[in-house]
Amino acid sequence: MATKCLILGAKGMLGTELSFIFRDYHPILWDRAELDITIENDVEEKIEKLKPQLIINSAAYTNVDGAETNQEVANKVNGEAVGYLARVAKELDAVLIHYSTDYVFDGKNKEGYKENDPTNPINAYGQSKLIGEKALRENCRRYYLIRTSWLYGKIGNNFVETIIRLGKEKNEVRVVNDQFGKPTYAVDLAQRTRELVEERKEYNIYHITNEGVTSWYGFAKEIYKQIGLTTKVIPVGTSEFPRPAQRPNYSSLINTKLTPSRHWKEALAEYFAKR
Ligand SMILES: NC(=O)c1ccc[n+]([C@@H]2O[C@H](COP(=O)([O-])OP(=O)(O)OC[C@H]3O[C@@H](n4cnc5c(N)ncnc54)[C@H](OP(=O)(O)O)[C@@H]3O)[C@@H](O)[C@H]2O)c1
Repeated sequence: MATKCLILGAKGMLGTELSFIFRDYHPILWDRAELDITIENDVEEKIEKLKPQLIINSAAYTNVDGAETNQEVANKVNGEAVGYLARVAKELDAVLIHYSTDYVFDGKNKEGYKENDPTNPINAYGQSKLIGEKALRENCRRYYLIRTSWLYGKIGNNFVETIIRLGKEKNEVRVVNDQFGKPTYAVDLAQRTRELVEERKEYNIYHITNEGVTSWYGFAKEIYKQIGLTTKVIPVGTSEFPRPAQRPNYSSLINTKLTPSRHWKEALAEYFAKR
């Protein structure tokens, strides 16, 4: 019998790809209109009525700068609501997949971060996601906590589309070269999520990204190279772009548990081929 699967945040960037990758599960696709995950009663009632065996939560408050002034909302969506989901999952004995971020780390370690390294978020978004991680781990046992980074996909705002737009508008763009991470294609993350479930990996924390570390500057250069844009990219320091939320400098996630995903440049080429 097929696993009954519920995807939350199904209209988001990752949720859209999950909906496609899991399509043969005939998943139930809910976004905010169907269930606001911050309303505890609704979470309990609606999910208990549905009785899914697999719940994939890609719903989140993802505005990193916005979280600085909307910390309460971010904590509710990314933090407390994850506890509601975890308790329902436990009640139903369902598997709960939840996503977190490289921004739970402070980014001071140039080597990057392994799954069990100590967390220490330096912005409100990272703090809210860490509250969610704890709520997940304390309230259910059958969970996959997947940290990822620098996500891009065909839906929503992302760096790839922003930098292309800027490249078409201007002759040169200035991009920070002192923040390093692993760009990740949402399709690959969705596919690896499916493998995790189907291979019945141990319930635990996983780091899933494309491989290879770069800076936003390196990422921008590669984007222009792959699509043939001749816009000049000028490397600059973070201090040239003051933003409400501080970002970690070195936030590459080290995966010690799973076979590595393909290199980010290869994934980017596929994104452009399908765009
Ligand atoms: N994007 C990245 O670079 C990145 C990096 C690392 C980790 N992550 C994590 O990856 C996951 C997926 O991110 P994403 O970029 O795909 O997010 P996204 O595109 O912003 O999608 C999030 C979805 O959640 C919905 N949502 C927000 N609040 C909700 C609520 N209270 N109840 C129900 N649904 C709600 C949003 O609906 P509305 O549009 O109506 O708000 C949206 O459809 C998140 O856990 C995120 O923290 C993302």
